[in-house]
Amino acid sequence: MGGGVKAHKTGAVQNGAAAYLEKARTFVDQCLEQSLPPETAAPQTLHKAIRYSIFAGGKRLRPALAFAGAEAVGGSWDDAAPVACAVEMIHTYSLIHDDLPAMDDDDLRRGRPTCHKVFGDAIAILAGDGLLTYAFECLASCPRGSAIPAIIKAVAAGSGTQGMVGGQVLDLEGEGKPPTLPGVEAIHRWKTAALITASCEAGALAGGASLKESEIIRNYGQKIGLAFQIVDDILDLTASPETLGKTPGKDVRAQKATYPAVMGLERAKLEAQQLMDAARAELQALGARAQNLEDLARFVVERKN
Ligand code: IPE
Ligand code: IPE
Ligand code: MG
Ligand code: MG
Ligand code: MG
Repeated sequence: MGGGVKAHKTGAVQNGAAAYLEKARTFVDQCLEQSLPPETAAPQTLHKAIRYSIFAGGKRLRPALAFAGAEAVGGSWDDAAPVACAVEMIHTYSLIHDDLPAMDDDDLRRGRPTCHKVFGDAIAILAGDGLLTYAFECLASCPRGSAIPAIIKAVAAGSGTQGMVGGQVLDLEGEGKPPTLPGVEAIHRWKTAALITASCEAGALAGGASLKESEIIRNYGQKIGLAFQIVDDILDLTASPETLGKTPGKDVRAQKATYPAVMGLERAKLEAQQLMDAARAELQALGARAQNLEDLARFVVERKN
């Protein structure tokens, strides 16, 4: 992957998730740089819009989970690099579309004006389409060739109509209605946890996971994925635009179904903590190689943006 981009030496990182995420960002950004056409390639507006959104400075959690998933089963960052790029491309596409006027209608993303504010709705839609397509091209280049069909299946399932896309529909249809816990849990599992789960699982598959190992990592992913969206809901209520890089307070205004709306802020925080503990417990069977997945679970719940 990435024509000679070399992965950092991996292994358990002593100072936890922040350093790990930083290393993951550097590596995945180099790979993305080489995987996507330059701004000068035709059609220039489209490639500018794609690069504007993908290099705007996201946390790169999903790539980090793909790397840590591969490591947890004895694989390398190079094994998982195409998965890391693909899930970040799909995630960025989901954000571009999520912000469109027809969806959440947001002006600020990753600390910048949203894609459609700069390039217009049509180019923003097509930038998302382009990213989704490149993602699957990336997956075709996973070094462990025998794992590619399972990897494609996992990523497609996490992104599709019974994953992220379906969850976005449930999210929009839930606006303005009294939220219930089963309802909001289903929204969050689909719109957010599904792609996070796929990032972990496809990373593990790319690293050579056995059936048993990929099941453990899938269970971990489902738990941190749900926790991740609960924390996103909490931050929408509690964080500033400067820290968040997006406009807070949107969920209440749009009457979205969120965990705090169903159970209040304190219980939502507790729920996220409990999911983190349960996710970490899943990893015990994997031993020390899963240390970075464990640290990332903590990051998901303790993050400030
Ligand atoms: C935001 O995801 C959208 C959700 C699924 C909640 P992130 O919080 O991971 O966004 P970036 O990638 O850091 O911008
Ligand atoms: C987004 O959920 C989930 C996606 C699939 C993009 P939100 O709509 O809550 O995400 P933010 O808060 O805009 O990042
Ligand atoms: Mg949304
Ligand atoms: Mg949104
Ligand atoms: Mg949100």
